[in-house]
Amino acid sequence: MKIPVLSVCTSFLLSACQLSETAVELVPMPLDPHSYADPAEAVVTHLSLNITSVDFDAHMLQAIATLTFDCHQADTLRLDTYGLEIQDVRATGEGFGEEVLRFAAGRQDEILGTELLIFPDRTVDGSYTITIWYKTNPDAKALQWLSPEQTNGKTHPFLFTQSQAILARTWIPLQDSPGIRFTYDAKVQAPEGLMAVMSASNPQVLSEDSRYAFEMKQPIPSYLMALTVGDLRFQSTGPRTGVYAEPAILEASAWEFGETEALIQAAEALYGPYQWERYDLLVLPPSFPFGGMENPRLTFLTPTVIAGDRSLVALIAHELAHSWSGNLVTNGTWNDFWINEGFTVYFENRIMEAVYGADYAAMLQALSHSDLTAEVADFMKNAPNDTKLAIDLVGRNPDDGVTTIAYDKGFHFLRLIEHTVGRDAFDAFLKDYFASYTFQSMTTDRFMGHLRASLLTDAQWEEIGGEEWIFGTGLPSNCPVVEPSYFTVVDAAATRFLSDGTLPTETDKWNTHQWLRFMNALEGLTAEQVMTLDRSFHFTQSGNSEIFAAWAVLATRSGFRDMALDEKMSQFLYRVGRRKFLTPIYKALVEANRKDLALIIYQQARPGYHAVAQETLDKLLGYKG
Ligand code: BES
Ligand code: ZN
Repeated sequence: MKIPVLSVCTSFLLSACQLSETAVELVPMPLDPHSYADPAEAVVTHLSLNITSVDFDAHMLQAIATLTFDCHQADTLRLDTYGLEIQDVRATGEGFGEEVLRFAAGRQDEILGTELLIFPDRTVDGSYTITIWYKTNPDAKALQWLSPEQTNGKTHPFLFTQSQAILARTWIPLQDSPGIRFTYDAKVQAPEGLMAVMSASNPQVLSEDSRYAFEMKQPIPSYLMALTVGDLRFQSTGPRTGVYAEPAILEASAWEFGETEALIQAAEALYGPYQWERYDLLVLPPSFPFGGMENPRLTFLTPTVIAGDRSLVALIAHELAHSWSGNLVTNGTWNDFWINEGFTVYFENRIMEAVYGADYAAMLQALSHSDLTAEVADFMKNAPNDTKLAIDLVGRNPDDGVTTIAYDKGFHFLRLIEHTVGRDAFDAFLKDYFASYTFQSMTTDRFMGHLRASLLTDAQWEEIGGEEWIFGTGLPSNCPVVEPSYFTVVDAAATRFLSDGTLPTETDKWNTHQWLRFMNALEGLTAEQVMTLDRSFHFTQSGNSEIFAAWAVLATRSGFRDMALDEKMSQFLYRVGRRKFLTPIYKALVEANRKDLALIIYQQARPGYHAVAQETLDKLLGYKG
């Protein structure tokens, strides 16, 4: 039986919602285990941020944050902070005379940081505004301060932020929980000659006095707060798209991402209008720890996707898809991370299918499937519970949930649902999902309730094993698989090479993904086979970072030792900070009994890595500083 669709409940807690007669949703929002905020008492609705100094010498932001709360009998306001130096707090709303407010540090935790307690001088109801004067710590994890040498132009320093998952609190005192949304405006006083851009309305030219003003009119969760300051220029690529990058790489970037408008149109045709007006891209220096980050209106990108042939634009499709899955409908807590990423990989794949064809999309599905099976097998040995979509990250760093499980198991679960109900029905369901839950939080339970109420019959839910997919470990046996035509020739070539050493021919037209598949299929090569391959295909010299990184892993695992490769590998590890490449290369070195080399490189390269990459690699290499 279908139950009528669903409440529009904008309040954080169900108990605080006015349930209408058709509102049958009975899934309360859980409290966020990664935030000190108490949304029953007060929720931030608007942030006005004034960054008065971006100090590249001291690695410090000096700032003033004005927060407007919606309060319910609040006598204490609880904010998340991490390493911030709070200088002054005042009540600044209308009718308040800038009274100084008492504040204190509350609970403290290595992962969560410090609870900032602020005490209004009376119990407050309704709107209440405070202003906090503060500065950041030089070690603030969200901030990466780059020296000129770490940039393309080598002449100006550079700063970027990475707030997801719980690092916004290291540069802004706020309720750092994905279940709480606020609008924001900001002012930034940049050093002379540098441009500032944010996840908001942005400048397109340098300002003469280096002052910049920003506005984000749609309510966003804190992890989407983002800022970059550097020697940036803008180039338009379409009516609502453009690229920001350092001058030296602006043109190459604008060419590589010249088809973004086509991706947006494909996305809109699938799941409804793009809600954020402009969609620009910001190409960062290579130490950016991720492939991309879906900061609203301005996706942050690694330069390692500039392959020169547009072969890695699936990453743009991914970050763009987050403009719906993630930025409109947001994971309720970090335990629900697959709600962001699984949906986004699904949506990304549908965009790629629409623009580049079903075969191309099938190729990406197959790569996702092989990454997933490898990682599931790995996790099942030591941490089987981490293979659950409904992961439990209480007491842990939410970064532990950033694995192929959320992405690829989530993706395959959604594909299975699509296959079960048919594409038309699933598309209608998703379109309605994004419309109905716009600017709201989505938890695993809430999604499950919605899915069973409005799409799947009980029999279908049983048939696909919905419970097992969401709450079980491992990969269910009904996980969909594909055999993309792009890989037929590649798989045959790999088999032939493994059996009699015949080298593949007519590889000129192979794309990046085909090469990755080829290398995936070559488990257990001898060092000699590796040398033969490199002589023909020059992977060691590849400027394509996906191909180079896969090659470095394959060659290292084979026991191949080669000066040229070692040299390239260390250059790559010094220059590139993208964790997805660093982790497997360092791991391969360790497993090939070359931990000494790994540590020598790491020691030197580490200061150039972002804190999130440092944390992962410190653990992997047992590095203690
Ligand atoms: N939002 C993520 C990046 C992220 C996740 C940062 C969790 C911090 C915590 C982004 O959308 C992403 O998934 N990036 C991927 C792209 C890829 C899957 C196409 C990446 O960086 O590799
Ligand atoms: Zn993502």
